[in-house]
Amino acid sequence: MGITGASGSLYAYALVRALHQLGIETHLIVTEMGEKVMQFECNKKMDELKEYATIHSNKNLFASIASGSYLTDGMVIVPCSMNTLGAIANGVGDTLLSRAASVVLKEKRTFIIVPREAPFNLIHLRNMTALAETGACIMPASPGFYHKPTEIWELANFMVARILDMLNIDHRLLERWGEKT
Ligand SMILES: Cc1cc2nc3c(=O)[nH]c(=O)nc-3n(C[C@H](O)[C@H](O)[C@H](O)COP(=O)(O)O)c2cc1C
Repeated sequence: MGITGASGSLYAYALVRALHQLGIETHLIVTEMGEKVMQFECNKKMDELKEYATIHSNKNLFASIASGSYLTDGMVIVPCSMNTLGAIANGVGDTLLSRAASVVLKEKRTFIIVPREAPFNLIHLRNMTALAETGACIMPASPGFYHKPTEIWELANFMVARILDMLNIDHRLLERWGEKT
């Protein structure tokens, strides 16, 4: 899992916590700006995420997840900045986050990107198209409102639930549409 400096750190916090609660082993890479925005928006320090995941330095290209021989079920970048999205779409792999993403793409594993920007310019859209063509799932941070959320956590959990579904991880975070009697 990668966390970048786009707005929406709450989605990342909710996801890493849910993965831990579901017993999923998670490796986490946070960019410098990802850390700052997480602190700014959620008042959370990286130390607080240590109980949920193994945290790797974004500078450590010797980490296990930098190699395709290290088996993983997939990768999620949430929230994904246009900066990181552009780097990955253009084959840059000079940080652990961009290298791990490139590995997941070449190994054809599940790769979910949750971009956050508004509006998108043509370069953003082209980069997303390139990633989608290479096999990534572009899952914009745009929660639905049909479950009538009243709290911010319900909005975050909407996205977390969709990400877990895409990763084929069983969960009961949200009532599914059509489930109500
Ligand atoms: C409070 C805050 C919110 C930001 N929100 C976004 C955003 O939603 N999308 C985005 O692409 N960049 C956003 N940025 C800018 C990125 O942090 C910046 O482009 C940075 O270089 C991204 O670096 P990273 O990809 O290494 O995390 C935001 C910056 C700040 C300070």
